Amino acid sequence: MIILGIETSCDETAASVALGRGDSVRILSNVVSSQIEIHKKYNGVVPEIAAREHILNILPVINEALEKAGINTPRPSGTPLYRGDYNIDALAVTVGPGLITSLIVGTETAKTLAGVWKLPIVAVNNIEGHVYANFIGKEKIKFPALILTVSGGHTMLILMKGHGKFQTIGETRDDAAGEAFDKAAKLLNLGYPGGPIVSKTAAEFKGQGEVVLPRPMLNNPNFDFSFSGLKTALLYKIQKDKDWQKKVPEYCHEFERAVVETLVGKAVKAAKKYKVKTMMLAGGVSANLVLREEFQDAAFRLGLACHIPPLEYTTDNAAMIASAGYFRAKKKSFTPWIKIKSDSNLEFK
Ligand code: KG4
Repeated sequence: MIILGIETSCDETAASVALGRGDSVRILSNVVSSQIEIHKKYNGVVPEIAAREHILNILPVINEALEKAGINTPRPSGTPLYRGDYNIDALAVTVGPGLITSLIVGTETAKTLAGVWKLPIVAVNNIEGHVYANFIGKEKIKFPALILTVSGGHTMLILMKGHGKFQTIGETRDDAAGEAFDKAAKLLNLGYPGGPIVSKTAAEFKGQGEVVLPRPMLNNPNFDFSFSGLKTALLYKIQKDKDWQKKVPEYCHEFERAVVETLVGKAVKAAKKYKVKTMMLAGGVSANLVLREEFQDAAFRLGLACHIPPLEYTTDNAAMIASAGYFRAKKKSFTPWIKIKSDSNLEFK
């Protein structure tokens, strides 16, 4: 089955073609047009600008994804519908959560294409997409699995008992982990997006270090997170430290350690409690190298299988949407195009 995935939930316009067979899915093309350079000067994503850029980019990005996958767009009537190596069987599009004006560009484009090409649509939750980045190129993944999903908008521990069977067992009560990285970068005058730059600056620090930040809620009995206090703790530390500007790598290093130790510590507790067979990472923050290493180490020590998406599938992309779309399309879980609706606060169930 061939799926065309479309993702426009934030500031990346993305399209991908995936080939699914049995329990595995392979990516034939993955095109992402990022707007990071445009939003950098505002220190964050400006929704109005993001939507306008999506409108300009969406058709060229889809076209490129189809061409790279060897699929030609439909011919005028009388000629074969597709002349490439493959035909598309279904569309998969992110319907939420995300920026509403950005989401609408993707969903309305998918609806139009579905109407013209007479194809069914799978409505995909962006968080489910991040989870399914782990299924790309893999054979059977053993369930139950624990997924630590960490992005700019979410920090969740998800128990996955089978395809489409999710239970959220913990989530952040305030800031998401990626948001915390972004806010820390702002406090330390490092720019946007914060995660990659905090991480890069942290790697410059060699030595013992004296700065100590809290590991929020690490020892609580539940699996929830809270990162807003960590950012405030960082703020108080630098306010009291007249030399903080000379110690930015040390502050970054300790901040990154605090986030990673909290995330991995909670994931380990949850993996033990729910007796999972597999641990997986998902979301934009899973690009963090320290997190990837510590998470893998933890799974190894527990004797569990571990899957971490390749870097190209960590931040928003359409390959993960096509992957999630394939597993839903297999079960004929389609939504009539008329009922497809963007939802900025779409719940993950
Ligand atoms: O999943 P994503 O692309 O977008 C959504 O939030 O939906 O995640 C973006 C987040 C940003 O907060 C960014 O700072 C963070 O992921 N991020 C990182 C790294 N790369 C991206 N955080 C820590 N370390 C990184 N290397």
